[in-house]
Amino acid sequence: MSALKTREQWGSKLGFILAAMGSAVGLGNIWRFSYVAGESGGAAFLLIYIACIIAIGIPILMAEFSIGRRAQSDVVGSFETIAPGKPWVLAGFLGVASAFIILSFYGVIAGWSLHYFLQYFTGGPAAGEAGGYGDYFVNFISSPIQPLFWQFLFMALTIAIVYGGIKKGIEMWNKILMPALAILVIGLAIYSLTLGGAGEAMSFLFSPDWSAFSDPAVYLAALGQAFFSLSLGMGALITYGSYLSKKETLPSAAVSVASLDTLFAIIAGIMIFPVVFAFGISPDSGPGLVFIALPEIFAEMNGGLIFGFLFFFLLSAAAITSGVSLLEVAVAYFMRRFEWSRKKAAVIIGTIIFLIGIPSSLGNGVLNNVRIGGLEILDAADFLASNIFLPLGGLMIALFVGWGWKKTDALRESDFGDTTIGHLWVFVLRFIAPVMIMLVFLNAIGIF
Ligand code: TRP
Repeated sequence: MSALKTREQWGSKLGFILAAMGSAVGLGNIWRFSYVAGESGGAAFLLIYIACIIAIGIPILMAEFSIGRRAQSDVVGSFETIAPGKPWVLAGFLGVASAFIILSFYGVIAGWSLHYFLQYFTGGPAAGEAGGYGDYFVNFISSPIQPLFWQFLFMALTIAIVYGGIKKGIEMWNKILMPALAILVIGLAIYSLTLGGAGEAMSFLFSPDWSAFSDPAVYLAALGQAFFSLSLGMGALITYGSYLSKKETLPSAAVSVASLDTLFAIIAGIMIFPVVFAFGISPDSGPGLVFIALPEIFAEMNGGLIFGFLFFFLLSAAAITSGVSLLEVAVAYFMRRFEWSRKKAAVIIGTIIFLIGIPSSLGNGVLNNVRIGGLEILDAADFLASNIFLPLGGLMIALFVGWGWKKTDALRESDFGDTTIGHLWVFVLRFIAPVMIMLVFLNAIGIF
């Protein structure tokens, strides 16, 4: 039945770009970027990260948009449509699996953000006895029920938007919330630079410790972060591209999305690291970093409660627009494959993902002895999805467009046409991106 109805589409090109930006900009830029950069040595990580965005990220972003718009289907259906009976469809299934895993822990962190939002609404979190906000954070995340409640709320909001459909749900919210978040992050970054940790923060972020370049783990972390932050490698952008009509132009959209996303991360770094140094927080504090550092700024500022409230509101909103893109990947697949309605798929899949996320949440408290490969449950899920599945998915997507398509088709479907940059793009997808991803992998497991 659903196959006979016309597929939904974006209302405008701007709506599509904003939704892709909404998918890209999220907890990844603020929460994940700052803690991964903090753990991986700062400036060296940042340089490698930017290299990954340019050399691998943008070309694969273009590949995803082109596949989606050409196939007009979900991530599995896209590969089946373009290359029926070929093994490429495995990339599609890997994508759906990644959506489940990523959203399961993403919901946990987004729930933390919602909790802080409410805290600022009602007077702000209480600093611990020693004066820092670390204790507050640890107490909160280790309690069994509270974080689950917030994670549940986040998932309910995400489900509600996906339930509402492409135009009225996803597109509308992105148009309103994204610009507001940008303004606030810039304002906070400027304030943060006055706090006294600015010098140290700048050299941490921008003057590399050269020894970090010889650490294979830094390359893997930067590659994983590039994929995560651009929402790449699992078909979120194939799915979004599939709601485009044939007449839009893709390359400018891809470059705008990637630039904005990178800018957001850098500004978020400029906002967070001065606080980290000014208050003697260790940059490698892990996933709690922003939740411990940011309350320090808000406690210092005049009107900090209002800024805290606005900040966590907008961070939660950015998380929702990203969460929506993750849920949409799975929902689009189940709608087509099992002929479910959008509403049914959103509720069922969203609920399952919430349930899968429970262990990630409890891993900070009652399950805190559980380690998977030496990592806590949430961190292990993140590592597996972001550092393994996404680059692997991206590798397959690059090879698919580079080798699985005729070059003339690829050039046409991407809107590059027969241009130098178009040929360069195909060359990158055929050789550069796959080789770089393989090298990072082999290097990380110690083979190379
Ligand atoms: N990019 C988002 C962020 O930075 C997270 C995200 C949304 C994502 N959709 C995705 C990550 C698809 C990987 C794949 O917060």
